[in-house]
This record gives sequence, structure tokens and C-alpha cells, in this order.
Amino acid sequence: MNPVLAGDVVDTHSFANSSEVRTTHVALDLAVDFAKKELSGHVDLTLERLKPDADRVVLDTRALEILGADASADGKTWAKTSFALGALDPVLGRPLTVSLPAGATHVRVRYHSRPEASGLQWLKPAQTAGKKLPFLFSQSQAIHARSWIPLQDSPAVRATYDAHIRTPKGLRAVMSAEMSEGLDATGRWAFTMPQPIPSYLIALAVGDIGFQAMGPRTGVYAEAATLKAAAYEFAETEKTLEVCEKLFGPYRWGRYDLLVLPPSFPYGGMENPRLTFVTPTVITGDRRLVSLIAHELAHSWSGNLVTNATWEDFWLNEGFTEYLTYRLTEAQFGKARGDMERVIGTAALKTDIGLAKSDDDKKLTRSTPAADPDEVFSSIPYERGALFLVYLETKFGRDAFDAFLRGWFDDHAFQSATSRQFLAYLDAKLLKTKPGLVSPAEISAWVSNPDLPADAVYASSDALAKVDAARDAWLAGKTAVTAMGGAEWTVQEWEHFFEGFPKTASAAQLQALDAAFKLTGSGNAIIASHWYKLAVDAGQTAAVLPAMTEYLSRVGRMKLIGPIYRALAATDAGRAQAQAIFAQVGSGYHPIAQQSVERIIKGS
Ligand code: BES
Ligand code: ZN
Repeated sequence: MNPVLAGDVVDTHSFANSSEVRTTHVALDLAVDFAKKELSGHVDLTLERLKPDADRVVLDTRALEILGADASADGKTWAKTSFALGALDPVLGRPLTVSLPAGATHVRVRYHSRPEASGLQWLKPAQTAGKKLPFLFSQSQAIHARSWIPLQDSPAVRATYDAHIRTPKGLRAVMSAEMSEGLDATGRWAFTMPQPIPSYLIALAVGDIGFQAMGPRTGVYAEAATLKAAAYEFAETEKTLEVCEKLFGPYRWGRYDLLVLPPSFPYGGMENPRLTFVTPTVITGDRRLVSLIAHELAHSWSGNLVTNATWEDFWLNEGFTEYLTYRLTEAQFGKARGDMERVIGTAALKTDIGLAKSDDDKKLTRSTPAADPDEVFSSIPYERGALFLVYLETKFGRDAFDAFLRGWFDDHAFQSATSRQFLAYLDAKLLKTKPGLVSPAEISAWVSNPDLPADAVYASSDALAKVDAARDAWLAGKTAVTAMGGAEWTVQEWEHFFEGFPKTASAAQLQALDAAFKLTGSGNAIIASHWYKLAVDAGQTAAVLPAMTEYLSRVGRMKLIGPIYRALAATDAGRAQAQAIFAQVGSGYHPIAQQSVERIIKGS
């Protein structure tokens, strides 16, 4: 392996020699071929020669077919140059070394992606809402951009980008960039991203996509069948944007639009700049899951503006974003709703700390880098990171902490930062303002001890405490299932209800619950996920199997399907069942979700 050195930063997840030669602009020219499941064309990289005598640029690739390479001193006249693909690393892919003649400041790589590209999902018409036309989308975070673009795939490298995309007629291309106006009958689309961004934020989707405005700066892209419901669900986004600006400074990306993906999208949301990608499973008709939008929007500050320099610093992206999200929810919808979300987040944190395979996985900063960022993904960097910031807010007061955070964003705008840089900044700008209030040992316990500090500040929620009381009274036989008030519960109350459900409940109790609230086949994907997991945990798989299999064939969001597969895999018979279901439905999952489910259900 040939880790990158960018300044003093080592990115063990990239082969790029970005301390010698650094990409400043990426220009894509690609055609979309649904029959071959290929993107084909070329990428031109503009290079800054930090070490002028470097005679090569090393790029990241995974499963790309490289057809040729050219070099240029002006980006206009090109001459062939030599290239070589290195040995395959199962996690990182292959380094692509392109020779740089003296004075060359641009390289062009001619290539096409392969059908199995880990960062692309090619959907059949049947997997879309409209059922008539195919759909393609990318998911570049963490290290999947390299599976559809040969580039320096490290979050420490920021570049502007532009793109020309050719699509089959009748299909629209959208990207995380400024878009060309109007549908072009020839299927040619042009994009520009004038702000420098890390490679994991380059994103593309192609499909039968329409647009509906929501506010002056906000709108939604989706298939026609989903557009109206999406625009209703997310109508409060413009307001969230205004609230966020008031708290953390101006929004620096122009527009903020959403793209609703088909249900196989493997995440809840992805903060692609100017165009958040979002799962349709949050469209429930009651606007109760919009904190997911607040989260992706908040990344416009924490993540997209100030970016984790390596995947070891992931909590700088997600912990800060989760903290911002709670603040936004509270400001927009009141403290009770914010606290509800915090309590649910903390429950997820405790579950994931329980599931963590090593002490390193429980920390904010690991002592040894993870081999594969996808494999160690959990709520720990999110919720532990947010709790750390809540702790600091509590110690220094909200006003001082807000000013500090805003300063962090302003002082590091359009840069990538390490945990070490953050901790030094924290020390200089906040801790030193009140010497002795928080000790270095207390900070270090937050970031590098496996256990949560005892003085963490947790939220509590009256509404959720009522749910606990109702659940426990019913389970103890004191009240009827219908007396719990479940018919009026929000999705958050249901989540909490399931989160605290004991494994000791009887089959009769589960049946009564299902009969009262029609959980099997629920149209709310979050409730359905919890219910199927609970039924499996309680040994009642047979009762839900047809509906659960249909669910697992349709939904590909890892957070919603992973717990069901994990519950099945807890017994030998269940694992065999999980393997059979996956054999039947797994081809409909995104490659990242396929890999994640395979890890869960593989025989040990
Ligand atoms: N950036 C993440 C999604 C992600 C993380 C993709 C790591 C690939 C690798 C996004 O902002 C996110 O956190 N999504 C959450 C939503 C949430 C916490 C509200 C999700 O998808 O569940
Ligand atoms: Zn996030």
C-alpha cells in the first residue's frame, strides 16, 4: 500500500500521491449506457504540481476499464502518455499511475465503468416508481467515487468540477452541481460545481425525473409518481435553511434541492452539495421524518464546507451534523420534539456500542485505521460526537459555543480538517477562555476512551416516558393493548416503543399488538422494520414471512434491512432463512447494501 501524504495527513484509504501532485479541477465527459450498465468517456484532471519534479500522478480506481491516458500543458493540446494499473487491494481497488511529462498540468483518462461498479446502482424499470424507464444513481461516499471516476479519491483533496453527461432520450441527468436548464431533446446535460469539494460529494443520477419548486432556494426532483407527495413532505425545507443560516452563518452553495431516489437507495440521505439524495421511506405523509433533511442540509456546513480530512475523522462530519440537526429540530419544531430525537439517538448509540466489535469502534478517534470505512459504519461517530458537543455547550453556555462553532466553520471553510486540528482549535478558541473548566483528560476521555464519560449530558422526553409506561403496563397485563394510545403515536413514539421492547414478550402479546395496529405490511417503512425485527427476535418469523420478504425485496436502505437480517442471523435456522431471502431479493440491492448484508448473514 502507498498511503497518501497530504501535508502531514495520512489517508490510508487512498493511493493518490496528493502531496506531490494535487487535483484542482475534475472535468467529466460521460455517456450513460443502460444496456451495458456502463458510464463511458473520459475525465480531465487539472493538476497542481506541488513537487515540480514529480513524474507521475497516482489515482484511485476500482473495477474501471482504463482505455488510455493523455497529458497536456494547457488542457487543449493532448499527447498520449503511459499508464499502469497496480495490484488489486480488496478494499481500496487499484492505483492507476499516469506518467507526467515535464510541464504537464492536465491528464485525461479515457475509460468506462463496469456493471459491478460499487458506487453505482443500475435499476430496472420495475424497481422505479414509474415502472417504465430505468434509473441510475451514484453513491460515492466513502470510497466509491473511484468505481466510476479515476481520481484522487481522498477527502483531503478538494476540486471544482464540471460535467457533460449524455443520456438516452427521455431521461434526465442531475448532479451535485449547478444544472443546465430544461430538458434537452438530445439528451445532453451540463453541470458546474464552482466551489471546491472532496471527491465523495460528486454525484449523478439519471432517470425519468421531474422537478417541483418548494421555496425560492429549495425544490425537489423525483419521478412523476412521487413528486407531489415529496413536495408536500419536504415543504418546510426552506424554513430549515433559514434557521440554519441564522445559527451557523450563510449558506454558501446557492440552491438546496432534494432528489428522491427509488427505495433501493442504501442510505437515508446523502448530502451531495446542492442536491441531497434522499430515501423515499421518509415520505410518510405526516412530515414527521424531516429531521433527516435537516441533517443533510446541516452537512452544508459540517462536512461539505469543513470536511473530514480522512475517514478516521468521520465524526467531524457526522457528530457535528447530528449536533446541528438537534439544534435545528429544536429551533424549528420546539424543544420537546428535539429532545425526542436526542433520546432516540442516544438509544441507537447504546445499541451500537453494545454491537461494536472492538474498543476502537467505540471511540471518536481510533488508534488504528479501519480497513474499510463501510465495515465500521455505525451511529457511534454520529451520536457520541453530538453528545461531546452537547457537553461542551453545557460547560461553556450556548452563546459562547455557537460563536465558537460558527468560527470553526468560517475559519475552515472549503478546507478539510483532522481531529487533531479541531482539538487544537477547541483548545485555543474555547477551552482557554475559561481555564480549568474542562481538563485535557476530560477531552481525551470523550475522543479516545471506549466508554462514554460519566458526565455526558442526556436529554429526556416526557412523551417517550409515557410510551415506556404504556408499554410496560400492557406487557405486565395491567392494561389492554388498545389502551396504550398507539393509534395516536408518531413514528418517533413507535421507534421508542420498539427500542425498549423486551425479548421475553409472548407470541400472544405480539399477535395482539399486530391485530390492534396492523403492523404487518405497515406502509411506514420505519415501523415495519422494527416490527419485523421484533417478530423475528420473538421466534414469530413464520407469521410475518410473506410481508417481510416483500418488504426486503422492495426496500434497500441498510439501516432498515440490516437489523432484520441481523435478527434472522442470530439462530442457525434463521440464518439459513436469511440466506434464502437474500438469494431471492439481494440482486435488487445497491452493491454497498449487498456487501453489508452478506457480511451479516455469512455463515461463521
Ligand atoms: N453522509 C451520510 C451517509 C453516509 C455515511 C454515506 C457514510 C456513506 C458513508 C448521511 O449524511 C447520513 O448520515 N445519513 C443518515 C441520515 C441520518 C443520520 C438522519 C442515514 O442515511 O441514515
Ligand atoms: Zn450525515
